Amino acid sequence: MTYSRITGTGSYLPEKVVTNHDLEKTMETSDQWIRDRTGIKRRHIAADGETTSDLAVHAAEQAIDAAGIKVDDIDLIVVATTTPDKIFPATACTVQRKLGSSGCGAFDVQAVCSGFVYALDVADRHIRTGGGKTVLVIGAETLSRIVDWEDRTTAVLFGDGAGAVILQATDEQGIISTHIHSDGRHEELLHVPQGASQGYDQTRAGGAYIQMNGNAVFRKAVGALDSISRETLAGNNVAHGDLDWLVPHQANMRIITAAANKLRMPLERVIVTVDEHANTSAASIPLALDIAVRDGRIKRGQLVLLGAFGAGFTWGSALLRY
Ligand code: ACO
Repeated sequence: MTYSRITGTGSYLPEKVVTNHDLEKTMETSDQWIRDRTGIKRRHIAADGETTSDLAVHAAEQAIDAAGIKVDDIDLIVVATTTPDKIFPATACTVQRKLGSSGCGAFDVQAVCSGFVYALDVADRHIRTGGGKTVLVIGAETLSRIVDWEDRTTAVLFGDGAGAVILQATDEQGIISTHIHSDGRHEELLHVPQGASQGYDQTRAGGAYIQMNGNAVFRKAVGALDSISRETLAGNNVAHGDLDWLVPHQANMRIITAAANKLRMPLERVIVTVDEHANTSAASIPLALDIAVRDGRIKRGQLVLLGAFGAGFTWGSALLRY
């Protein structure tokens, strides 16, 4: 039987750091308000001209090194992003070129903050059905480009970054199961209300920026993370006490705490990095995973649950033996 397993992780945060105190100087907010409501202390912002593919390539190079493979070994590149470099081609193709690769398949997945889990689902199935042996899966975002920096209700929440994993075929179980869901009925609670097909009109109120009903999103996020965790554990006959780590989408400390409480996971077994980089959407789970692997918290053989929630709404999970 063929399984897929994570053999290397990587991540990248842009050099420029914007703290809550920096934001106090440009909008009516405070470090205290942001920390109390979200747990966020700072975010990283891409430099002028630095694109999503640039961030993705840094993270990918680390993951490739960690897995001990060569770029030519990669059979497929999947990039989860909501902030592609261009409308087309797919950012995955740009990443492929920048890595010095050609010929393998490359495409993007758009499921907003759940994008990495969706991409992992595709990559795992690709390997298990014999489509290839080595897949590079990346979550990368430059959300700062679609944030309205005059809207304090959203601007304080987001940041830029990238995370990546190498997934390889193996006969030992790595990815145990993946689960993905969506519900398009609540689109307007969290969206950027413009696009290639609807048209762009920067004079329209709001522009091509994130718009969100924070309270409604909060409730949906907690409920969805709870239901997807239960579904995943029940589907695999695993008890919450068997889990070594929960790696949730890093949107907001209050959402993470509420989701962990519902799952009866003590916070010591939850990976939290949102304080350091804010919500990086599709990059958030692979970023948190890489940070926890590199600092030695997540170890080989441990049982890890990834849980995601994002606009769409989309939500999903992956249970894996690291
Ligand atoms: N600084 C200071 N005050 C602010 C700020 C700010 N940055 N933003 C809003 N306020 C004010 C509001 O104007 C309001 O003032 P008022 O009482 O005078 O009207 C007050 O703070 C309270 O506003 P609420 O929106 O009720 O604040 P709430 O406690 O709900 O916190 C938050 C807002 C943090 C957005 C919360 O709703 C939340 O966490 N939502 C989840 C959304 C999220 O994390 N989205 C990320 C994207 S989705 C995803 O990744 C899945």
